[in-house]
Amino acid sequence: MERTKTVRKAVIPVAGNGTRFLPATKAMPKEMLTVVDRPVVQYAVDEAREAGIEHIVFVTSRNKQAIEDHFDDTPELITSLTRSGKDAQVSELERLLPKAGSVSFTRQQAPLGLGHAVWCARDLIGDEPFALLLPDMISYGARGCLAGLMDLYGHVGGNVVGVEQCAPEEASQYGIVATGAAVPHGFAITGMVEKPKAGEAPSNFYLNGRYILQPEIFGLLARQQRGAGNEIQLTDSMLALSDSQPFHAHPYDGRTFDCGSKHGFIEANVAFALKRADIGAAVYQSLRALVLSHEGATRAA
Ligand code: G1P
Repeated sequence: MERTKTVRKAVIPVAGNGTRFLPATKAMPKEMLTVVDRPVVQYAVDEAREAGIEHIVFVTSRNKQAIEDHFDDTPELITSLTRSGKDAQVSELERLLPKAGSVSFTRQQAPLGLGHAVWCARDLIGDEPFALLLPDMISYGARGCLAGLMDLYGHVGGNVVGVEQCAPEEASQYGIVATGAAVPHGFAITGMVEKPKAGEAPSNFYLNGRYILQPEIFGLLARQQRGAGNEIQLTDSMLALSDSQPFHAHPYDGRTFDCGSKHGFIEANVAFALKRADIGAAVYQSLRALVLSHEGATRAA
């Protein structure tokens, strides 16, 4: 195996059904919910591009056509915006449009778990390393987390994952890694466990949804073994791959919002809105007023 072959492609799994956001997700994919004015999935695509990714493979499912449409051209809209002199919006839409042929879509036919979703991308990825971005997890920092993974990968090759620290009581919601020797931009991983039971997490470093994986992962995923929650778990195949290939972790220097939960989704909206030049100051004033009045009401109650 060439240890640092260039990572050109990324997989973004968007097949989940979003039951946590019903009824909003009854007729709309959860990945199309907006954080300020961009759909959640757009953040992962922008992060992938920032890190140098050239081709994105979306693993979709039934009722996800809106995602495919979002990453297609909209000539009628562009014409109408141009006619009304909305040049800034036209250039933003043009900037976001992927180059022809640089996105692919394949379907996960049954919701069998993240490991199965990734396995569905095997033919489109082929025999090369690839990035994986879970779009529910939105990076918030000077750079997206994947760019940091690329730095680490440039040093150590093999497989690398993004991690952040969580409170001990949150560890059972995530994949958790066991920490080994330090390297530039990260540390070696000596173990991994998906959704550990209380008190059994090997550390408080959780997998934050950013990965660079070698194609040998597909052979392990093909075994379709069930793990936590009776799902085919990616973490289990990564653990098996770590017997024969190196795995390193990159602690993200920003933070990740878990937009798969209502709390994380709202937090992401607030954080990104506060950062915006056009609305940040107004949002800040409104939030302050809301918080003060909420505190007043809570005290009076
Ligand atoms: C998945 C991964 C888990 C990771 C998490 C991040 O879990 O299996 O290791 O920590 O994403 O969001 P899921 O959120 O699909 O349960």
